Amino acid sequence: MASSLSFLTLLLFTVISTVKSCPPSDRAALLAFKAALTEPKLGIFNTWSGYDCCRGWHGVSCNPTTWRVTDINLRGDSQDPIFHNVTHSGTMTGNISPEICKLDQLTTVVIADWKSISGEIPSCITSLSSLQILDLTGNRISGGIPGNIGKLQKLTVLNLADNAISGEIPMSIVRISSLMHLDLSNNQIIGELPADFGKLRRLSRALLSQNQLVGSIPDSILKMNRLADLDLSLNKITGSIPVRLGKMRVLSTLKLDGNSMTGKIPSSLLSNSGMGIMNLSRNGFEGSIPNVFGSKSYFMVLDLSFNNLSGRIPGSLSSAKFMGHLDLSNNHLCGTIPIGSPFDHLDAASFNNNDCLCGNPLKTC
Ligand SMILES: *[C@@H]1O[C@H](CO)[C@@H](O)[C@H](O)[C@H]1NC(C)=O
Ligand SMILES: *[C@@H]1O[C@H](CO)[C@@H](O)[C@H](O)[C@H]1NC(C)=O
Ligand SMILES: *[C@@H]1O[C@H](CO)[C@@H](O)[C@H](O)[C@H]1NC(C)=O
Repeated sequence: MASSLSFLTLLLFTVISTVKSCPPSDRAALLAFKAALTEPKLGIFNTWSGYDCCRGWHGVSCNPTTWRVTDINLRGDSQDPIFHNVTHSGTMTGNISPEICKLDQLTTVVIADWKSISGEIPSCITSLSSLQILDLTGNRISGGIPGNIGKLQKLTVLNLADNAISGEIPMSIVRISSLMHLDLSNNQIIGELPADFGKLRRLSRALLSQNQLVGSIPDSILKMNRLADLDLSLNKITGSIPVRLGKMRVLSTLKLDGNSMTGKIPSSLLSNSGMGIMNLSRNGFEGSIPNVFGSKSYFMVLDLSFNNLSGRIPGSLSSAKFMGHLDLSNNHLCGTIPIGSPFDHLDAASFNNNDCLCGNPLKTC
């Protein structure tokens, strides 16, 4: 009797102690993270109370087996019901506490579009070895990208766009072999792209516009077989376009506008039928536009304006399947504007300020 009673007690004790809830250390780290931030409009952090951080804490998710915190997912622009009493947009001030690094099972950290979170990225973030998504876009985060960011071997998404991040792109970034999406747009990043940037073989989007990048496009980029979208616009990039860039298999968006690039436009770039959006505007590209368009050419955007291009508009442009937005203005082109369906909807703005172009939609020759 006594022994079965103590057995029951033991059983009851075991059941209670295995009821899953957030570990106290994870809860304490979350509360310290919360303490460094202020979110006055939505009351998101009002939900961060009570013992079990795995239940009902807005934006917090746990692993169903280990009950460790795996996700912090806080977006300032969202359709989440918690936003119903405001205009789908919140603000947050404060900074990202290094206490977040104690949540060592995190796979997702999204703290995005809060507009006013400042301070630096805690350097200890690179110790979160399970991290797959780091998205801090749309805040006012300053300081540099942690030098040993390459330690985050499982990272697939690194999005730090629209902040005030400075310094250079760390060399170690090329070691993140799983990286698929890199967005550092609209910061104050200086220096050159790492020469071995092309080691990022899984990268499909490299968005680096609106920074202060210098130097030329490294040849190693040609090895990036999955690169679909390369945006280096509005930097201070020099040099010419690597000739084989047009041979890249899946590259479909290329934005190099607003740099100081020179040289000729490689013909392979314009004959590549997968290319859909290309903006080379406001550089120093020269020579003639290669006459290599064909029935498979399908450009949503082809903007070559504000360069030093000369010669005639290639006749093969007439045979293009689609030419959505064509801008050849502000160059040194000459001769008759070709006739054909891709030109039917274009107005004079596409051709203005050249040396001696004529024909519809400009004056007759
Ligand atoms: C929105 O709701 C939260 C909690 O539901 C509340 O704390 C906050 O004051 C509300 N905001 C406005 C602007 O009504
Ligand atoms: C191309 O880039 C220029 C310079 O950055 C920009 O003004 C223009 O709007 C872009 N063209 C298109 C069609 O987006
Ligand atoms: C444009 O090209 C001409 C020669 O074709 C050259 O003399 C001139 O310096 C170039 N201008 C710029 C701004 O690169």
